[in-house]
Amino acid sequence: MEPSATPRPNVEAFFDPRTSTISYVVYDQPGGSAAIIDPVLDYEPKSARTTPVQAQRIAAFVREQSLQVEWILETHAHADHLSGAAWLQAELGGRIAIGQHITQVQDVFKKLYGLGDDFVADGSQFDALIDDQATFQIGTLTAQALPVPGHTPADLAYLIGDALFAGDTLFMPDVGSARCDFPGGDTGQMYDSVQRLYTLPDDTRFFVCHDYLPEGRCDVRWESSIGAQKAGNIHLNAATTREQFVALRSTRDATLEMPVLILPALQVNIRAGHLPEPEANGSRYLKIPLNALFNHLQ
Ligand SMILES: [Fe+2]
Repeated sequence: MEPSATPRPNVEAFFDPRTSTISYVVYDQPGGSAAIIDPVLDYEPKSARTTPVQAQRIAAFVREQSLQVEWILETHAHADHLSGAAWLQAELGGRIAIGQHITQVQDVFKKLYGLGDDFVADGSQFDALIDDQATFQIGTLTAQALPVPGHTPADLAYLIGDALFAGDTLFMPDVGSARCDFPGGDTGQMYDSVQRLYTLPDDTRFFVCHDYLPEGRCDVRWESSIGAQKAGNIHLNAATTREQFVALRSTRDATLEMPVLILPALQVNIRAGHLPEPEANGSRYLKIPLNALFNHLQ
């Protein structure tokens, strides 16, 4: 008997030009089951206005294809955008899930924001916490959670058939890798995480979380492969040593400012994309801690 071929799920990408984020819908077949990965809720920082423009694009696609959303998966608690998970769940259903180590990130940011006893850093804001290496079903598709700490301690990549949703690990080969200087980030761990991804078959499709146009390229791209990353990622390819990567990544991180939306985003994203509860006047508020979030530039 022929060995069964690796399933090749359908993947639809949604690029958000404001944050350079790519969200995905992965599904077994039209009319079948789907997972939404890393959805964005638009947030305009000058007026503190949220709008579901990107999330509506995803919802329209899901409805056009008559998909049943089983999961809304986060690869990590993003610092560059607010999650659209809660908005999409209210529209389409599905369980919001993230990696089990999110509790470490919640713990750090609970202290930073001075959150009270009503915020418990136990992951209970999510419908499911996914254990390292756990497998779960999306209809007929089997997904596996691969721990990829480095950018944050709680990053997961999702391997679904031949498609790897890599989160903030590597970007397109001509862009490189994700920063490792957020709380709990670690350049050495990032290297080790990518080495584990590099044991996957070369033809594994590699879907990135962001695309930042490098000089000389004008088109947004989101799909690479394990083979192409090993051959040519400018930060971390098959020939890169741990020492080389740690030196390169640390030097580069020393030049980066904090993302514009990190303070608005994290307090929503550690709540699984739920906005803070309204106060007595009916308005919702974000907290901005002063002089609390430092990096080497500030
Ligand atoms: Fe990120």
